[in-house]
Amino acid sequence: MMRSYIEETGFFAGHDPRDLLKTYGSPLYVYNEKIVRSNLRRLKGLITKYPYRTNYSMKANSNLALLRIAREEGLNCDAMSEGEIRLLLKAGFTPDRIFFVPNNVSEEELKFAVANGVMTSLDSIDQLERYGRIAPGSKCAVRLNPGVGAGHHKKVVTAGKNTKFAITDDQLDEMFRVADRYDLKIVGINQHIGSLFMDPEPFLSAVSNLIQMAKRFGKLDFIDFGGGYGVPYHKVSEDEKPFDFDSFEKKFEKLLDDAVEELGYVPLFKTEPGRFAFCEAGVLLGTVHAVKYNAGKKYAGTDIGMNILTRPTLYGSWHDIEVIHDGTVTTDDPQQITVTGNICESGDIIADSRTLPKIVTDDIVCVLDAGAYGYAMASNYNQRLRPAEVLITLDGGVKVIRRRDTYEDLFRNMDV
Ligand code: LLP
Repeated sequence: MMRSYIEETGFFAGHDPRDLLKTYGSPLYVYNEKIVRSNLRRLKGLITKYPYRTNYSMKANSNLALLRIAREEGLNCDAMSEGEIRLLLKAGFTPDRIFFVPNNVSEEELKFAVANGVMTSLDSIDQLERYGRIAPGSKCAVRLNPGVGAGHHKKVVTAGKNTKFAITDDQLDEMFRVADRYDLKIVGINQHIGSLFMDPEPFLSAVSNLIQMAKRFGKLDFIDFGGGYGVPYHKVSEDEKPFDFDSFEKKFEKLLDDAVEELGYVPLFKTEPGRFAFCEAGVLLGTVHAVKYNAGKKYAGTDIGMNILTRPTLYGSWHDIEVIHDGTVTTDDPQQITVTGNICESGDIIADSRTLPKIVTDDIVCVLDAGAYGYAMASNYNQRLRPAEVLITLDGGVKVIRRRDTYEDLFRNMDV
């Protein structure tokens, strides 16, 4: 029999998902604060032997209330854009807790970071030069390509040969010349090899490679190894096990021992996880509005379009789905079902030919692991409203942390 993640975790803390949808609208992103905090603590305590910081990579989920929780839990953050820096400041992060790791940004955006005293990493020689013109004589970081990439899909691999990101080994001489020209002091290096690995080997070999590159620099204040820690998206369907942090930690720490010995000093070490922080702490509820058959294939048509959860359409990503019938999880009468949304595209599919319990109209589908790169990537395509986000708080209450779009929101920017 299939497991039920939402029952095992008591995800809704006794609230009936039907009531949640009635009150806050369907579809709906629901987060569980207990799971949020426990994941953030796991990340924060990753390395204890050396000075270590976790930067939460806020692109995964940029809800203000969740950012405030990350701040309370003592994490720092990385930002990719001026908008992300602004949001972090609004969430109460002081500039020294923000690391700007942009790609291909304008002079204005760099000036904004400089004016706000946010440490910035440049990921090409061209951008380093631009930064040098803006803030000669200042401190900065550079993003390096360790030559190894990893990720759940080629679209999210961000190091190795086939990527737009970072500065490669053979460009270092020129990079130092540019830094010298503007009297820039490179005090940190960072990397991010890609998103979602369950096997830590590529990450660990990238750690070793980055340490080798670090030897080319003077004494660095920090070395940031990026994010990518995986989440078991098949935990219900295939009993997939979580990322093995305990064994990872041991191997990682051993590499840091070697690094400290080779470098002859102890920098501040950092990693930069996004997905792991919120992914399993968020689910997406939606309503089945039509069940139909075409050429023998059963379709369950929901209100979770590709605008609400983009990952399955964009990467072919798998999200486990639980079916809620009459308010409780059902595992009855498994059959092949294709779960789709309400968007005018044939690729608007959440789960293709999936073995799922029987689904009937008005059932609720609960899409798991939707807390990262879920709402963050949502849009108003087809002029659909983006949903509300609610948090099940530690005391079992329900708090709206983002209201649902209104039709006025849709028109606002065109009312010119
Ligand atoms: N640091 C940098 C510089 C990044 O670009 C990213 C993610 C992270 C850290 C965090 O990586 P994570 O721990 O979340 O894997 N939309 C895709 C994922 C894109 C990741 C982009 N960069 C998805 O839904 O799978």
